[in-house]
Amino acid sequence: MSDDSFEPKIVGFLCNWCSYRAADLAGTARIAHAPNIRIIRVMCSGRVDPTFVFKALSLGADGVMIAGCHPGECHYIEQNYKAMRRFHMLRHTLTAMGVEEKRVQLVWASAAEGQQLAEAIDRLVADVKELGPLNWSKNWAENGDRIHALEDIVNEHNEAMEVLR
Ligand code: FES
Repeated sequence: MSDDSFEPKIVGFLCNWCSYRAADLAGTARIAHAPNIRIIRVMCSGRVDPTFVFKALSLGADGVMIAGCHPGECHYIEQNYKAMRRFHMLRHTLTAMGVEEKRVQLVWASAAEGQQLAEAIDRLVADVKELGPLNWSKNWAENGDRIHALEDIVNEHNEAMEVLR
């Protein structure tokens, strides 16, 4: 489905040490990208608990970007490998729940890669525009239980996602 008037809401969880700086660089270098992304800075891609993604989607986001340092360059040694494992489990779970896999994307961008990050944002926005609005929140009862239901799903996959509580 494609609707030219649809402007997706994208939530981006960006690692402080690389991708967030890449976004900063894109801004200072005036590298244009789609304005649809709302950035949340996290200290590392490994900090992105799967519930963050579920919560963003259930509260109205149409897509999510997780961005971190390139493999081998994580400031917390190998937490981005953990992010990668979680990401694959997360996408698998979301697909099983009817969420198209292109809506959640994992990106590597160093602090010097403002251009690459801008292009990745544009690609994600274009992919989600093509898919159309998610409207996931409408699939859930209008009460706080929806987040608990999602947390239950994550808890079931704790071991695979390496979520420590
Ligand atoms: S510090 Fe950037 S991904 Fe870990």
